[in-house]
Amino acid sequence: MPALVLIGAQWGDEGKGKATDQLGDRVDYVVKFNGGNNAGHTVVIGDDTYALHLLPSGILSPGCTPVIGNGVVVDLGVLFEEIDALEARGVDTSKLVVSANAHLIASYNRTLDKVAERFLGNRRIGTTGRGIGPTYADKMNRVGIRVQDLFDEKILRQKVEGALELKNQVLVKVYNRKAVTVDAVVEELLGFADRLAPMVTDTGLLLTAALDRGETVLLEGGQATLLDVDHGTYPFVTSSSATAGGACTGSGIPPTRVDKVIAVVKAYTTRVGEGPFPTELHDQDGERLRAQGHEYGTTTGRPRRCGWYDAPIARYAARVNGVTDFVLTKLDVLTGWERIPVCVAYEVGGTRFDEMPMGQSDFHHAKPVYEYLDGWSQDITGARSLEDLPKAAQAYVRAVEEMSGAPISSVGIGPDREQTLQLRPLL
Ligand code: IMP
Repeated sequence: MPALVLIGAQWGDEGKGKATDQLGDRVDYVVKFNGGNNAGHTVVIGDDTYALHLLPSGILSPGCTPVIGNGVVVDLGVLFEEIDALEARGVDTSKLVVSANAHLIASYNRTLDKVAERFLGNRRIGTTGRGIGPTYADKMNRVGIRVQDLFDEKILRQKVEGALELKNQVLVKVYNRKAVTVDAVVEELLGFADRLAPMVTDTGLLLTAALDRGETVLLEGGQATLLDVDHGTYPFVTSSSATAGGACTGSGIPPTRVDKVIAVVKAYTTRVGEGPFPTELHDQDGERLRAQGHEYGTTTGRPRRCGWYDAPIARYAARVNGVTDFVLTKLDVLTGWERIPVCVAYEVGGTRFDEMPMGQSDFHHAKPVYEYLDGWSQDITGARSLEDLPKAAQAYVRAVEEMSGAPISSVGIGPDREQTLQLRPLL
């Protein structure tokens, strides 16, 4: 089995960390291919909970080489903080490699992310404020700073000068902030160079050579399909390619090497930040999903917006990503409802849409058309197979599978590694 892609099907926080971690023991490389420390993976192993933002979750699997791919934007301060925190808990991080082509989040981009959001007022995106968007904008604008620039001080200085020429004007004249000096930025970045140097690799070459040897590579997407800059609910998206296509551009692995696309989908829906969300609940059911599902952001601590399962979104994710397997997560959170609504289509101005509408304005006004499935009240967290689940829970899994456009290969029934029902092997 050469390369597997694992992505989120909704707006993020579907439980990708746990899914990656489960595969991690059997894969040789786990590659983060997009995003930065805006991500938040929570992985529970025994009594230990690990919250990771930037590092790929493969870092917790001893046999696995974790890779930060070229498509990632790296905040070096955060990288070393996470490494130090894991080392302090006895996790060996020495195998980590970082692409020479990954872009660096400079301090001015963190500042710009925050002030731009304030400036937007009620048109804000609700970003994580980590500098992600401005750093990707610099990359596309060809004024970004890359990992490899740290090892050529002259070039680094030139690039920082080039970037700051315009940014200082914007910081001072538009946002009324202090200008940033080239020296301060260069000094901060160079301060990380010696520690980073041994990790820096041509990761595209490393990974394709590994595939040639028959080793297994897992490409792990940050954020999710509907936060993808092209295929998501633009402009309420992140600034990277979070769909399966991004796995290739963000890692240097060609599409012809990818065998499986696994999409993680929650048994209901959540979103953080602004933007349309047709099945969002503003009532007690929403509160209850948030409480039962512990739906608070791993990175920012913000309460997540909660709503019912949205099948047109899952079908869209299946189509855009070419999903071969769905991993359904957090089914246990739905325990205790007498009946569970599932969105099967939308209604916009009297017209029914069975798929996601083409236009953003329609999606903003989409009202969910619900089908009601029977609920269950028994605790399901100890089940070991699908057949152990109450009949109604089994029927829920089968019904959402039928509606979502690809087979469900595993079902999550609790946060622990063991609390997963494997219906078909993923690997
Ligand atoms: P940014 O990625 O910080 O630019 O934020 C853009 C949008 O993506 C905001 O709505 C964020 O809340 C959302 N977002 C970014 N990363 C994640 C994530 O890992 N999970 C869920 N939402 C995210």
